[in-house]
Amino acid sequence: MSVEERDLTMTEFATRVVVWQKIHGRNDLPWQNTRDPYRVWLSEIMLQQTQVSTVLDYFPRFLTRFPDVGSLARAPLDDVLGLWSGLGYYSRARNLHLCALAVVGLHSGAFPQTALALQTLPGIGRSTAAAIASLCFGERVAILDGNVKRVLTRALGFDADLAVAANERRLWDNATQLLPIADLQQSMPRYTQGVMDLGATVCTARKPNCTICPLSDACVAHRLGQPDHYPVKTRKLKRSSQLIWLLWAQTIDSSVWLTKRPIPGVWGGLYCFPLFDSREALVESVPPDWRPALEDQPSISHVLTHKDLYLHPVRLTMNSQDLADFAGIWAATDQWPDLGLPAPIRKLLTQG
Ligand code: ADE
Repeated sequence: MSVEERDLTMTEFATRVVVWQKIHGRNDLPWQNTRDPYRVWLSEIMLQQTQVSTVLDYFPRFLTRFPDVGSLARAPLDDVLGLWSGLGYYSRARNLHLCALAVVGLHSGAFPQTALALQTLPGIGRSTAAAIASLCFGERVAILDGNVKRVLTRALGFDADLAVAANERRLWDNATQLLPIADLQQSMPRYTQGVMDLGATVCTARKPNCTICPLSDACVAHRLGQPDHYPVKTRKLKRSSQLIWLLWAQTIDSSVWLTKRPIPGVWGGLYCFPLFDSREALVESVPPDWRPALEDQPSISHVLTHKDLYLHPVRLTMNSQDLADFAGIWAATDQWPDLGLPAPIRKLLTQG
């Protein structure tokens, strides 16, 4: 059924979401109750691939160190990556820094106030731009992240394949038609937060709680008893796997040798043990006299978006800081907390 055929219900759709959000939505998160685009932008970027519970930990720390877009723009990228360490998807942190530089350099330190202009900034896509513009400026624009796609495709019975760009565009159009039409300064922030909250807390991927959903009597998927048929997306991510050997060189006073990962690439811009494609390559990189001291450690698997990594750390305890072949730094234990380190490397070091 198209949105046009259900006009009456559709006006009600937004009203129901707005009313439900006020009473049952999340209203006390630290990035709410503000129209400061810096805070909203930062939270939206952090929340893109990370759970609210984790962001609750990182968001205040980030704000303490970088209270405004100017302080973030002035900071070295290494400091940003250091604070981001453990959140994953580090291109977000690199784009965050680029975006802060653009806001300062091209917009005099003030975030643009329309979704269209926000979308021109690094790391801000259509949905994130709409989230910022609707939450901060009451603009009538639709977000469409994973949670919202689930809510809307179920409610509308939208069963076209979202792997096809034209279908995704059609869902954006429907999402736009469903937006509130009155009192936008109040209703848009409430509605945007409401559809996100519905997707996160009620209309969940598995076992949606339709009995408490404000839309259930108008929801096509509910009527058909098939919430798990939506959304339809055929193209699956092609996953690959990679074996990586890590040279974990450490002096007797516990300093470790770290090299900066190239951008682009896995863990781009972070500090990491030197990485190798094979054990032989790792051994060859070490002077012959030291090779007998190499100690294989238990391997670890680590999941990235498109890739499963199988990590094989090989430890080398040295009595001098002498690793001339590699560009990098000797990092003492008191430096580790502030360095941008990949999560599995930090785990190795702290267990270590
Ligand atoms: N996920 C994305 N944006 C969010 C927000 N503003 N609140 C809670 N979860 C979110």
